[in-house]
Amino acid sequence: MKNILVTGGAGFIGSNFINHILKERDDYFIINLDKLTYAGNLENLAESEARKNYRFVKGDICNPELVNYLFEKYKIKHVINFAAESHVDRSILGSSIFYQTNVIGTNVLLETARRNEVEKFLQVSTDEVYGSLGAEGLFTEATPLSPNSPYSSSKAGADMMALAFYHTYGMPVVLTRCSNNYGPFQFPEKLIPLMILNSLNDKKLPVYGDGMNVRDWIYVIDHNRAIDLVFEKGRTGEVYNIGASNEMPNIKIIQLILQHLKKSDSLIEYVKDRLGHDRRYAIDSSKIQTELGWKPQYTFEEAIQFTIKWYLKNEQWWKRIISGDYLKYYEQQYLAR
Ligand code: NAD
Ligand code: TYD
Repeated sequence: MKNILVTGGAGFIGSNFINHILKERDDYFIINLDKLTYAGNLENLAESEARKNYRFVKGDICNPELVNYLFEKYKIKHVINFAAESHVDRSILGSSIFYQTNVIGTNVLLETARRNEVEKFLQVSTDEVYGSLGAEGLFTEATPLSPNSPYSSSKAGADMMALAFYHTYGMPVVLTRCSNNYGPFQFPEKLIPLMILNSLNDKKLPVYGDGMNVRDWIYVIDHNRAIDLVFEKGRTGEVYNIGASNEMPNIKIIQLILQHLKKSDSLIEYVKDRLGHDRRYAIDSSKIQTELGWKPQYTFEEAIQFTIKWYLKNEQWWKRIISGDYLKYYEQQYLAR
């Protein structure tokens, strides 16, 4: 049995990871440390809650005493760090919490992991650390880091720190950098769930700039399968890009969602562009494919349908979110444009 400290496991990707992995494997004991910020939601973990090999701890990765206590109590030798502030627009409104959690929090985890002689530390990162692409080319693991937003710069800082711990102390650190995810339990501030819910509620769909910014979309389960593989078999000191080669301009995704929901294009509203908006992300994932044998299992067409159906079926989940503080945030942001 491996005792694994999973941080940020009540968020979108982390909760999908825990639910998926506990179904697949009975040799993992997962301790989920999550601060339950606006983005963390224990309802996401309803199916895992009662499992014997799962524990939830509410707390902050920036708290060294708590983190050390958990390492000692559960004899932690394995860490997967999902915990982060993750939304670019919020990082533009206020960056401090991004550097606090994403940089300082990762430092607390790495220092504690070092003292406790961990055997594997997986830092979950993002393709956004590479910056923005022109019309041609793909991000490889050798692409220089050139982050443009407070969010991506905080993730790049954490990446460099994790790699420095490998080089300096020989700590068994491994990094993943994935493209944009979509799927169940994604907080409706990100493009796909926001557009699904606004369409369902006949609200305007705010398209930033000309709608031609490109993202490379991957279904969250494919990302999580890759994380598990890198965690088990990835070489330490290495970075693995993860992506499903599915580039799409934002406007195309929005039109597709409207078609699925049989709603009119008149809901589309072009709004002022995001500050410093990265134009294009696209991932070359050949390293993880050739070295570890991973490949995506889901096509965009099927997984976007599951995702839309999931939001249609889980009205209670998102109604609680959009009736609370989130609505206030969203309206403020919308009015500010
Ligand atoms: P999310 O915002 O949905 O969830 C983040 C989780 O971290 C929440 O449960 C939150 O409560 C928790 N958290 C925040 N601050 C914390 C703290 N100080 N201590 C403990 N817990 C804290 O984010 P997500 O989309 O699930 O992303 C997870 C990770 O994957 C992040 O590191 C992100 O950078 C990375 N990533 C995300 C995407 C994407 O498309 N969403 C793509 C590539 C990489
Ligand atoms: P987002 O889901 O915030 O992910 P990221 O910025 O981390 O890639 O945004 C995806 C793309 O969609 C990005 O180009 C910004 C754009 N976008 C809109 O056009 N309107 C919106 O309301 C949001 C949230 C995003």
